[in-house]
Amino acid sequence: MKYRIAAYISGSGSNLKAILDYSLQKKISSEVVVVIANKDAKGLEYPASLGIETAVIPRKEMPRKEFVEKQIGLLEKHKVDLIVLAGYIKKLPKEITDKFKNRIINIHPALLPKFGGKGMYGMNVHRAVIEAKEKYSGPTIHFVDDIYDNGEILLQKKVEISENDTPESLQKKVLELEHIVYPEAIKLLEERRVN
Ligand code: GAR
Repeated sequence: MKYRIAAYISGSGSNLKAILDYSLQKKISSEVVVVIANKDAKGLEYPASLGIETAVIPRKEMPRKEFVEKQIGLLEKHKVDLIVLAGYIKKLPKEITDKFKNRIINIHPALLPKFGGKGMYGMNVHRAVIEAKEKYSGPTIHFVDDIYDNGEILLQKKVEISENDTPESLQKKVLELEHIVYPEAIKLLEERRVN
């Protein structure tokens, strides 16, 4: 199965870049057809340079109805059949999680179900993992429903935490793995080898 992907981002978009590069190199057959951000994120530059439509849809600057309709309009226009959240910090509206049931995936920078939930994103996650003196961390790819970090887990990869690791060094280690694991998860979905 070849997916038409909408990627959602909020920040630097390094996971999106990894996915775009896998797609350009034909290591996955799916294509990113539109990128949506909640603010003018740095990560929009790379897809825009490839001619992919990008859109900034900030929640606070419009009524909720318009916020939802703008997204659904783009998803329909581009015939999207898979939503890939790549560092998107907002919760998707229920209208979208319902419409795209089992067709939304997210990457989380820790081994869920631990260290997930509201407020657990980016550095907050790595800080909590280090404070808890965990031996392992690593990215989790999971399906998305309308509860934070709750959906079924698709793929996880472990990395060992050393005594010298700081939240910053752990972030770096996990992010390197994320760039491999996220495109691989899309490949698993394409091949339906998901377990
Ligand atoms: C990634 O580490 C991703 O796992 C994390 O945000 C970062 C985005 O980086 N996501 C979460 O914490 C979600 N709860 P990127 O913009 O460079 O891809």
